[in-house]
Amino acid sequence: MLKLHYNLEKISMGLVGAIIAVASVGGIVEIAPLFTIEQTVEIPDDLRPHTPLELAGREIYIREGCYACHSQMVRSLADEIDRYGPYSLAAESAWDRPMLWGSKRTGPDLARVGEKYSDAWHVAHLIDPRSVIPVSIMPAYPWLTRPLETDLIEGNLATLARLGVPYDETMVENALADARAQARPDSDGVDGLLERYGEDIAVRAFDGDPSSLTEMDALVAYLQSLGTLTDAPYEMLAEETR
Ligand code: HEC
Repeated sequence: MLKLHYNLEKISMGLVGAIIAVASVGGIVEIAPLFTIEQTVEIPDDLRPHTPLELAGREIYIREGCYACHSQMVRSLADEIDRYGPYSLAAESAWDRPMLWGSKRTGPDLARVGEKYSDAWHVAHLIDPRSVIPVSIMPAYPWLTRPLETDLIEGNLATLARLGVPYDETMVENALADARAQARPDSDGVDGLLERYGEDIAVRAFDGDPSSLTEMDALVAYLQSLGTLTDAPYEMLAEETR
């Protein structure tokens, strides 16, 4: 054995090959099994996809670069859980394309921000952060009060459906109507919306005005949905701390 090694050390390329062969064993053992299983994350039964309005808000979140300052991933460290709530599970973002975990926090993590503040707080904060947090360094986004462009909503759902997000045909067909209904609580479309996405979704005039569908409606609907798509992280944490 020593003799083999002695000879191998004298052939440099052979030694490199042998090192690669030995070092790759660990990789193969860890990575190869992943190709044989269909899913690496277990999707919770109660996980729901974003509604069309929330999805439109998500597009605005991406467009405005909110992710540059805000992460959406609570790490499993005690101080993070104390501050934000249950740590994030991979399954929560299984249908997020692209994912918005982020890598830098100039502002706080937003993974659990849903229903932490009122809609009116978000509207005031987005139009002028200093009006609610005097020392805030977050930029103002006063233009979000403009009408929401709805042309891409249906196509967005259809594309995500092709990528494996469980939007069925009726969800895609009704995407535009559902987006309008979610920001207009007294409209006829609400029943269909609740039937498709569940009774728990928020149906409100998010920007305070039910007569218009604005970018603010979409973005606030999205923010209020963060951390509310499944109870799994809350149950997991409760079980661990019991
Ligand atoms: C330049 C960095 C920066 C950008 C870009 C930014 N924010 Fe912020 N955000 C902050 C900071 C700093 C705070 C903490 C102070 C405050 O609440 O205003 C904050 C706070 C928040 C909060 C309150 C979180 C909490 O739990 O109190 C929300 C919600 C929020 N931002 C949403 C957004 C959205 C939506 C966008 C994009 C439209 C955005 N932010 C863009 C820096 C940023």
